[in-house]
Amino acid sequence: MGIPPTIFAEMSALAVRTGSVNLGQGFPDEDGPAEVIAAAVAALEGGANQYAPGIGVPALRRAVADHQRRHYGIELDPDRQVAVTTGCTEAIAAALLGLVDPGDEVVVLEPYYDSYVAMLQMAGGVRRPVTLRSPDFRLDVDELRAAVTPRTRFVLLNSPHNPTGTVLTRGELEAVAALAIEHDLVVITDEVYEHLVFDGQRHVPISTLPGMAERTLTLSSAGKSYSFTGWKVGWATGPAELVAAVVAAKQWLTYTSGAPLQPAVAVALNEHGDAPAALALDLQQRRDLLVAGLRDAGLPTSTPQGTYFATSDISSLGWDDGLAFCLALPERAGVVAIPVQGFYDDPRGAGRHLVRWAFCKRREVITDALARLAAADLTS
Ligand SMILES: Cc1ncc(COP(=O)(O)O)c(C=O)c1O
Repeated sequence: MGIPPTIFAEMSALAVRTGSVNLGQGFPDEDGPAEVIAAAVAALEGGANQYAPGIGVPALRRAVADHQRRHYGIELDPDRQVAVTTGCTEAIAAALLGLVDPGDEVVVLEPYYDSYVAMLQMAGGVRRPVTLRSPDFRLDVDELRAAVTPRTRFVLLNSPHNPTGTVLTRGELEAVAALAIEHDLVVITDEVYEHLVFDGQRHVPISTLPGMAERTLTLSSAGKSYSFTGWKVGWATGPAELVAAVVAAKQWLTYTSGAPLQPAVAVALNEHGDAPAALALDLQQRRDLLVAGLRDAGLPTSTPQGTYFATSDISSLGWDDGLAFCLALPERAGVVAIPVQGFYDDPRGAGRHLVRWAFCKRREVITDALARLAAADLTS
């Protein structure tokens, strides 16, 4: 079927091979709260070592429902409207496999997180990209409208958005909602960076807009909010029939997710509700450090409103191909970044000259990368 390998694995391997500073893959180099790790250890030692229920352990489903109420005022029945998944990645996979029929059109923001492409391909869905364009990466509502056809059944949204760092405004979300209601579309929304927004902004879940709760499946995970990306504990929430479709597909993917990690994530959500906000404040400073340093190195760089990532335009340094730049960068500077062009349908199009850097790294790592970039000749 020609499902492509993920660029992240390729670039992380390149970082290891060349001894480069890896600002490619988006994983933090510091762990989340120690008490949450202790809760996982206690669960391991306390016998939570056999299959969990397919839909997830009750304590975590309750904690997710409480989280949605506390942060957003969303009311959910934890027994029918919350399902635990193996990271948001499996939530995406199960949602698309469980809901999308072959030939269904899915409107998706481009550049997209690469698992969307692979999973839509496996489900037989047809991508209808709507492009967020540099340098400001806003949603063009006219382009969005034009992407909808009589065969469109879903909008696959991602806000805060990887890789651009765009946080959709209430106005932009209202435009998506109006279109979804007008054309009777289901919105699948990946909100995995929901807490990692900066400059005092707030993330608005599209399911909180009028008329949207009944047509929105929301996906998230503990990975980014709590710096446990390796735990792969995620969830899907929304109308019972959409959540049931996720659980139905999940049965044949993983059947059930890591039993001892689920009660620990419940502890994170219940008892460490402030940790994600503190992380966001800290990340904002690291964003500022990285963006300023990249600009000083001659790379025009957008200021992201959320996520782990900043995006630079390499064309002013004479490059017209992000992949070539990223393949040359380890040798030139000892730094790894991710070319963004692979996250567009047309790699020669709007993302050809963009590269992505992760700032979810310790300050000294970012400073080291910036010193290397400053010392290198980055012109083509
Ligand atoms: C937009 C987006 N969705 C989903 C995921 C995957 O989340 P998880 O690690 O919980 O599977 C990521 C991870 O990078 C992401 O950036």
